[in-house]
Amino acid sequence: MAPRIQLTAAQQQALLARHRDRMRSCEPWSAAIKWKPELNVQGSTYKVLELWPGIVASDAPVDQLERGQYVDSPSRRFRYCVRLHRAGQTLLTWWGAQVGTVLFDHDVIIPALYQARGPDDPGTGEWTETPWMSLTPAELITLRPGTRLARGRTVVAGLGLGHQLIEVSRRIQVKRVILVELDQELVDWILPRIRPHLRKPLDVHVGDAYEIIPTLRADVALIDIFPGYGDGFARVAELARRSPSIKKFWGWGTSEMTGLAQPDR
Ligand SMILES: C[S@@+](CC[C@H](N)C(=O)[O-])C[C@H]1O[C@@H](n2cnc3c(N)ncnc32)[C@H](O)[C@@H]1O
Repeated sequence: MAPRIQLTAAQQQALLARHRDRMRSCEPWSAAIKWKPELNVQGSTYKVLELWPGIVASDAPVDQLERGQYVDSPSRRFRYCVRLHRAGQTLLTWWGAQVGTVLFDHDVIIPALYQARGPDDPGTGEWTETPWMSLTPAELITLRPGTRLARGRTVVAGLGLGHQLIEVSRRIQVKRVILVELDQELVDWILPRIRPHLRKPLDVHVGDAYEIIPTLRADVALIDIFPGYGDGFARVAELARRSPSIKKFWGWGTSEMTGLAQPDR
């Protein structure tokens, strides 16, 4: 059982005052906003792409959503939904080894993609506890270092909600995007929703990134196929060793980990 923490009245007052200060000092969200341990964001400025506009946002657990609050893939292996995140509640953020929180001064919506829980996945219920992707500030900020490396022919491994694919395709330095995604059903179901937002030619490879990427030629490969933040460094390094025709590699979270930047070839 978690330890019971009893705060004194003075400690409770201090926490409340700190929370009020944060709510009063919210700044506009922007593509340039930098991670800091306490991010305070104006909810009205937090605009995210809704792949299925009209899905009703909800803060109910993903297993308890009602019709109109989600879209499932044809065989129900994936669920798209829109999380309702309430004003003043904190969300976890990460940057390298540091953790922090973000809060908003108004309710915001956060689209998310869940996969059906496999027999070995932790938890109970039909869907995995954590989504493959959700458009939280932490996810958006930690994908940026990779997106900024994109140029020429860029491989994007891991489709998710297509966020990084879209951002990469918007860079003028990028000529062509090569998507590698494991799951055919995800590609068939969600890619048609993403395609209208892409601004560069796209090649699609469906299969295991560990097998496909070493066969590709590209300037950069951006790898986001890991369930956990920053836990793929060794696998990205190994992929880079086996991919002689790809000049540079980046993996989600690995570039912010001190001293673990992937070297240029
Ligand atoms: C974290 S999500 C990617 C999120 C994406 N970067 C975005 O911006 O929305 C991970 C994706 O990688 C895919 N994936 C997992 N393992 C893979 C593998 N071995 N090869 C290719 N894709 C994989 C998953 O199906 C999922 O679509």
